Amino acid sequence: MKNKMVLKNKDVVSEDKKESWLYSDTVKDHFFRPRNVQLKDPKSGEFNGVGMVGSPACGDVMIIWIKVDPKAGRIKKCTWRTFGCASAIASTSMLSVMVTRQGGMKITDAEKVTPKDILKELGGLPARKIHCSVLGDQALRAAIEDYKRNLNIKNQKVK
Ligand code: FES
Repeated sequence: MKNKMVLKNKDVVSEDKKESWLYSDTVKDHFFRPRNVQLKDPKSGEFNGVGMVGSPACGDVMIIWIKVDPKAGRIKKCTWRTFGCASAIASTSMLSVMVTRQGGMKITDAEKVTPKDILKELGGLPARKIHCSVLGDQALRAAIEDYKRNLNIKNQKVK
């Protein structure tokens, strides 16, 4: 009976009941109502950067698409899809909001966003789930690199 009382205040409890943790309300909000999810493959030309990464820790995959306004150098749209867990979903949902709010983040600033920044906005993650926030962070960097590569190719064609 006493054990049940303890479990009531936890979001996740391991099968052997030795581990348990709580998610912040912000994490739960972004997990249950993820922002900017890209369920269908985007149309050609809809985005100008895409990045995909897998986590060696758990084999999960994250893909992020970005639409950058080349004149302003700002991210106007950021969508994503993952096969990751609740923490990866919440982290990437938050990341997609962070880089597109207030007219869009400059790509030079977006490159500096760290998992620590995402965790701060989420109100933290359980220690064993922190690596999940790295998936979105790495996929965003890969998408920015892809955007830069595409821009260089475009500029070379114009010359
Ligand atoms: Fe693999 Fe969270 S993304 S455990």
